[in-house]
Amino acid sequence: MSPMFVPGPVDVAPEVAQAQTKPMLPHRSPEFEAIFHACEQRARALFFTQYRVFITASSGTGFQEAAVRNLVRPGQRVLAAVNGAFGKRWREVAQTNGLPVDTVEAPWGQPITPEAVAQALEAQPGVYDLFLMVHNETSTGLENPVQAVAQVVRELSPDTLIAVDSVSGLGGARIEMDAWGLDMVFTSGQKALALPPGIALAAVSDRALERAKAVPHRGWYFDLLRLEKHRLKDSTPATPPVSLIYALDVQLDRILAEGLEARFARHATMARMVHEWALRRGFDLFAQEGYRSKTVTTLVNTHGWDIGQLNAFLLERGMRLANGYGPLKGKTFRIAHMGELQPADVEALLRALDEFGGWG
Ligand SMILES: Cc1ncc(COP(=O)(O)O)c(C=O)c1O
Repeated sequence: MSPMFVPGPVDVAPEVAQAQTKPMLPHRSPEFEAIFHACEQRARALFFTQYRVFITASSGTGFQEAAVRNLVRPGQRVLAAVNGAFGKRWREVAQTNGLPVDTVEAPWGQPITPEAVAQALEAQPGVYDLFLMVHNETSTGLENPVQAVAQVVRELSPDTLIAVDSVSGLGGARIEMDAWGLDMVFTSGQKALALPPGIALAAVSDRALERAKAVPHRGWYFDLLRLEKHRLKDSTPATPPVSLIYALDVQLDRILAEGLEARFARHATMARMVHEWALRRGFDLFAQEGYRSKTVTTLVNTHGWDIGQLNAFLLERGMRLANGYGPLKGKTFRIAHMGELQPADVEALLRALDEFGGWG
């Protein structure tokens, strides 16, 4: 396997890929329902939740849309935290669904602080049905302080639901839905869970489902109440990604066998290795110290490397990393360290980068 240090789609373990080749089952068969049920039950551990987990044939963006469609009553507003490309996208998802949105913003690379969120909530008390926040900003390599921010939202505005995009965090970095008082947390398969793309998972609280009952036009495909009705029968309203559920079934066993704590520690170790190497070689790190992601590092391209040339060099050695995202392309580049990657893989990458930089 040639390691891909890109923030998704990431490498998939051979036995997980292989699981997809099992014969199809009709999704409304007892055999499939048993697999689906077992997946849903075990997936709760990933979210640290006792609530439910919806599993859909979609990528993570589907649940960005589900959050705004289901959790905002007519006349109420959304407060969106934006400090990177994916927070910006989520705000746009809310706006394009016709919702009134206010923003609490921080410069890219700096965290959304509890103080800034408190100020925004206090400026317009009682108007926000939903607060949106990205856990792990894949564009900037920053982990937002979700727990501290959620605490402020729960204290100052108890009726505001909290939805968190952990598309590139969950399974690699800690996010505790119930203990932190979050109402909806979602992820995509192709990032830290190391599944092929096309499957997304979302944990949803009872409070959030209650709210959805007061929202008249929730749409159909991502209607949380419809998803819940079917989940209670170990099923989905529309056809699920059967092969990807087989893969999830195997991958959940692998993840839980490794242990979540060990998995978080492995990701933190790889992040530390990359951070230390970058600083040693004179690269700045884009995200503020104390808020650096465990699953992806964004390096400022201090030495003016041509990232196309760099990747051509790495590809000859069976590796690949990611350019900067959007406006950061060329100015930064990203090393993802998530999913199946091991510290030894990161070591090999850093040796290759040393060679490229003339430090080898
Ligand atoms: C933080 C974050 N949110 C949302 C998305 C969109 O996810 P998807 O492409 O699975 O819809 C991404 C994709 O990179 C992401 O990193």
